[in-house]
Amino acid sequence: MNILTFDSSEQLNEAGANIISGLVQTNPRAVLGLATGGTPVGIYSHLVGDYRRGLVSFRQVTTFNLDEYVGLPASHPESYSSYMQRHLFGHLDIPADRTYIPDGNAPDLEAECRRYEQLIDTAGQLDLQLLGLGHNGHIGFNEPSHALLRGTHVVTLAEETRKANARFFPTLQDVPQQAITMGVGTILQAKMIVLVVRGADKADIVHRALTGPIATECPASLLQTHPHLVVLLDKAAGSRLA
Ligand code: F6R
Repeated sequence: MNILTFDSSEQLNEAGANIISGLVQTNPRAVLGLATGGTPVGIYSHLVGDYRRGLVSFRQVTTFNLDEYVGLPASHPESYSSYMQRHLFGHLDIPADRTYIPDGNAPDLEAECRRYEQLIDTAGQLDLQLLGLGHNGHIGFNEPSHALLRGTHVVTLAEETRKANARFFPTLQDVPQQAITMGVGTILQAKMIVLVVRGADKADIVHRALTGPIATECPASLLQTHPHLVVLLDKAAGSRLA
């Protein structure tokens, strides 16, 4: 594992964007796994800058998002579909039919999970998976548990996850109870994983995930088993690492 700690959030954003742009420059048909939430916003805005400066084109890239809320209309401003349009897809040359996000409004959610997994399989291995980290150690929406599921599945969000995400909604009651998420097995199959974490409030969980025992109670700890893991931290998030 390669851990990089940055003095400023701007440097971290640039480093994250450089990894993604560099990959797409060398492999224009790259398959990217993408995350949402507060963490990647600055990286996405840097990527948009790279695209606008003509440094990279996303015309042949395929993307798969990690997760989507269940029951939130795709047009809702906090759906991950809206988020991706707002922060990334709406500003790039990527064709809409190459950007995949689970459909949290599918009439049959189990069938939707199987369909999504099949789409990832058909696209081939993810070349890169971008991840944020939950305060409880979740990656995607794989919440701490005595057992983790390998493939895409429906998950009931942990209360602490709903509370953390309540900042994006009018009230806690408005935060959906469930989501569709890629499973840890799907995430770990990516050729390269880029885990990005910011903030002092995540210093403890960064320490536990990267140096603690590998256990399903801290899903991110399974990343220790990945042969090509890059961790991008701001100073605060890395403060508990030696
Ligand atoms: C988002 C996702 C989540 C977030 C995590 C951190 O697609 O899968 O695992 O990465 O909840 O969220 P933020 O970045 O808002 O702190």
